[in-house]
Amino acid sequence: MKNKFIPNVELIESQIEYLSNLIDKNKPPYTRRPFTKEYSRSRKWLKEKMIENGLEVHIDAASNLIGVRKGINPNLPPIMIGSHTDSVVGGGRFDGIIGVLAGLEIARQLSENNIKLEHTLFIVDFTAEEASEFGISTIGSRGMIGNLTDQILERKNIEGHTLREGLMSLGGNPDLIMNARKKPGDIHLYLELHIEQGPVLEQTGYDLGVVTGIVGIRRLKVFVKGQANHAGTTPMNMRTDALTAASEVILAIEKLANKHYEKQMVGTVGRLFVKPNGSNIVPGEVVFDFELRSLSEVALDEAVSIVKNKINNIASRRNISIKTEQLSVTESIKIKDEIIDGINESCNQIGSSLKLPSGAGHDANQMAKIAPVGMIFVPSKKGISHSSDEWTDYELVVKGIHAMWNALFYFDRNLDN
Ligand code: HGY
Ligand code: MN
Ligand code: MN
Repeated sequence: MKNKFIPNVELIESQIEYLSNLIDKNKPPYTRRPFTKEYSRSRKWLKEKMIENGLEVHIDAASNLIGVRKGINPNLPPIMIGSHTDSVVGGGRFDGIIGVLAGLEIARQLSENNIKLEHTLFIVDFTAEEASEFGISTIGSRGMIGNLTDQILERKNIEGHTLREGLMSLGGNPDLIMNARKKPGDIHLYLELHIEQGPVLEQTGYDLGVVTGIVGIRRLKVFVKGQANHAGTTPMNMRTDALTAASEVILAIEKLANKHYEKQMVGTVGRLFVKPNGSNIVPGEVVFDFELRSLSEVALDEAVSIVKNKINNIASRRNISIKTEQLSVTESIKIKDEIIDGINESCNQIGSSLKLPSGAGHDANQMAKIAPVGMIFVPSKKGISHSSDEWTDYELVVKGIHAMWNALFYFDRNLDN
């Protein structure tokens, strides 16, 4: 059959092994943060592979790397396959990477078999999908749809570089982001293959997941300002200890997330700084980020206001200053039924699939603002992710790419423009 997908596990294994090892050797494996020399090396390799596989390559205003395979009908909006190749610190070898390599492999097989789709195909490596030092995630996809304000572009990282400079260092042109933004109707469909990053597929014995929705995320920074003091001579009733106050807030967040909501909620504090950070000094200042996630926007907004009230109560009871700053808001999305059905049919041609929501955020959260989106999951071993122990058997990655291939042909013909 002309449009038959030929699984090539060895090729995918070698590409994952190569790309996932382009990492910062001074950080815990596997770290490839955006705007670093390792990231530029991985981008260079990706660009070469895109060209090798018949794609016309460009960098957009938001610095996303895009490979284009023209379709038969230039008047139709393109279908986009994308994900990201940046990682968290000490992240895994599959998160994001398999989605970009899926696009590359599909482009390779289209090119080698001289297959033309009706729609033009975009293969995208989105810049900085992970939570960044600029306090925001999904940077490239936000930029692609014009969702990066000047205030965000002027945010600085710890070295004092602005996000604007970071995007320019990758070939982006932030001044053009708003003019170049993609609007509703500009993209026919956005598809992404990703590891589940959770235990459900493995525990239920399914090889493929059809994503039904993606959580929303609220991220805030908390500034606790007490008084540094001598740990030995300062009586307990004369302290304004910033770390014990912060700890009360953090435990309140955990307690809130454990409360029952109509849609499950999770709350995390993963990043915290103490000043002056000496074992014999009462902490004077603490700065930490917290995030809340849920499929329910109502529950998220309610939870944020509850945390803010808790913070005010703790601050007044402890007579300490606690301020918050909104870092980012990502809305939850529901995948359209016709996309779920089309992906389900595409998966079932290969093996059984399970419908499930995503507890992780993705570039699809942003792309959903301007186009229909669909996601396919493959299992994560023991549900582990954002860890060097992250693992998915290569055969399952290839199964996911095959399902993406089927979905691409399905929606090339069956999704009304
Ligand atoms: O944090 C997330 O949900 C994703 O892995 N970026
Ligand atoms: Mn991730
Ligand atoms: Mn990811």
